Amino acid sequence: MTEIDQPNRVVGFTRMDESTKEDIALIFTESKKFLNDRLVDTMVDLLDSLKGPTLGYQVDRYEHSLQTASRAYREGARTDLIVAALLHDVGDAMAPANHAELAASIVRPYLDAESTWVVQHHGIFQGYHYWDRLGLDTDAREKIPRFTVFRHLRPLLCRVGPGVLRPRLRDLADRSLRADVA
Ligand SMILES: [Fe+2]
Repeated sequence: MTEIDQPNRVVGFTRMDESTKEDIALIFTESKKFLNDRLVDTMVDLLDSLKGPTLGYQVDRYEHSLQTASRAYREGARTDLIVAALLHDVGDAMAPANHAELAASIVRPYLDAESTWVVQHHGIFQGYHYWDRLGLDTDAREKIPRFTVFRHLRPLLCRVGPGVLRPRLRDLADRSLRADVA
């Protein structure tokens, strides 16, 4: 936090149970200013954190995220699903064992339930295309709770999902990314 970002006022308490109504109002105001109002930038920063290591793929996860969102956009998906496509892998570095759960928790307050559900289960959907190489059940997606939610999305996810790991496949330019997410 730079000096200019420092709030002009701070609370007097050092224990929450000693706070006043005015203190709490101040905390909420500052939190909105420094957290909620910067949320888009924070999300883009999370996307930026996916740049770099390709983990053996031909593209890094940042490129993969842009490709996924680009495909969803071109397929005519509604905005929430495009944003879900863009953000589905955020948190990968923090939660490699359950990044889909973390990403779903991040987007849940802002996206509709169906789009959040897709983010939460995208790893299982991907498994349809390769889990047999691991000796796992490629139809595990059919055991996901509320699987019926997925049925009408299946054509879209099948068109968007498997082919978004190719170099030089992008039409959602990152220079406009912040504006597009906003
Ligand atoms: Fe993922």
